[in-house]
Amino acid sequence: MVIDALAIRPGLRIAEIGAGEGYWLPWLAAAVGPEGRVYAVEVRADKVEALMKLVEDAGYDNVEVVFGRYDDPRLPDRAVDLAITSKTYHHIEDRVAYFANLRGDLSADGRVAHLDDRPDMPFPLSWIMSGHTSDPAAIDQEMTQAGYRRVEAFDFLYTQSFSIYQPIAVED
Ligand SMILES: C[S@@+](CC[C@H](N)C(=O)[O-])C[C@H]1O[C@@H](n2cnc3c(N)ncnc32)[C@H](O)[C@@H]1O
Repeated sequence: MVIDALAIRPGLRIAEIGAGEGYWLPWLAAAVGPEGRVYAVEVRADKVEALMKLVEDAGYDNVEVVFGRYDDPRLPDRAVDLAITSKTYHHIEDRVAYFANLRGDLSADGRVAHLDDRPDMPFPLSWIMSGHTSDPAAIDQEMTQAGYRRVEAFDFLYTQSFSIYQPIAVED
């Protein structure tokens, strides 16, 4: 359902920021197909290594693992059609600066999607996930400050918010 909602078509160039153990990679690699590209961005050396092994073992020719910095995903300029964070938004420190900088990595009609656990999930999940959630209103506010507008929001995930943003065009 997430992949469908993201309207991923073959040939798209996608970056997953905070790819972790690579949960999304099989879905993303299959959705963009051989002509597409998936950049799996991670900041932890052990996870980068594990992701590289996963990519090699699975034979994903269209996935590139990127050793990002905490304040910069180190993606190629203007080359990303869709950047995704999943359970990662709350990990990023200066989010306004981070996503303002990311605008330079997006293609002309590039999008940014955030999936993250909501703080208002039912107890005891709210207690277990305490400190690992993002308030959807705060995501909206920070993304607006970073120069984006929300273009879509979905409510089919039980504990997570899921919204898509696009950069606000700069008037000449
Ligand atoms: C909870 S995991 C989510 C993994 C995966 N996206 C998922 O949905 O299963 C969060 C990941 O974000 C990474 N991370 C933390 N800060 C980051 C940053 N500034 N840029 C990129 N990744 C970051 C962590 O190393 C960790 O692997």
